[in-house]
Amino acid sequence: MATVLSISGSPSPTSRTARLLRHLDGRLVREGHAVVPLDVRALPPEALTGADPGHPAISEVASLLGHADGVVIGTPVYKAAYSGLLKSLLDLLPQYALAGKTVLPLATGGTLAHVLAIDYALRPVLSTMGATHITPGWFVLDRDITLTPDGDVSVEPAADGPLTQALGHFTTALDRAAFAPAAAGA
Ligand SMILES: Cc1cc2nc3c(=O)[nH]c(=O)nc-3n(C[C@H](O)[C@H](O)[C@H](O)COP(=O)(O)O)c2cc1C
Repeated sequence: MATVLSISGSPSPTSRTARLLRHLDGRLVREGHAVVPLDVRALPPEALTGADPGHPAISEVASLLGHADGVVIGTPVYKAAYSGLLKSLLDLLPQYALAGKTVLPLATGGTLAHVLAIDYALRPVLSTMGATHITPGWFVLDRDITLTPDGDVSVEPAADGPLTQALGHFTTALDRAAFAPAAAGA
């Protein structure tokens, strides 16, 4: 069993990205993983704008990351890149906060013109932060995510298949990482 920190970088109170991540959290939990959800928008604004990496709320996120084996990072595409809110958190975390972590990057967006935003914008930042293994990410069109009255989402089958596959790559990498130290010591 791995511990996964699931970070939504959307500032929206009705975020499709956040709802999608919480849906995926449920799938991870059913597979036996422990998931800690984190919505960046729930952090105190002064923690994100105060340029103080030692703010207790930022230290708490750094600690959650320290205890996580894997990280799911989801962002809406804003102006052809990831959200400024997500960047405001990442900028305050330690340089190598993702060292030793398996990371699954996800994005939602309004147009396929920006389907590569994960690869040209988010992935380089995750690499800079020392992520050990960034598994293949996935971009989901906002119109393929339907919010359901119970707080969950349904995802169009054409998008859900590749998304499930991306989640599978992530959990496989987590499992491999869990066995790696034992294998190295054998
Ligand atoms: C300020 C703003 C900028 C956006 N820019 C883009 C963009 O450049 N490319 C794109 O594909 N979608 C863009 N969108 C659409 C959002 O990425 C899309 O609706 C996303 O699913 C919203 O996620 P959220 O509900 O989690 O915030 C933009 C939306 C907003 C509000």
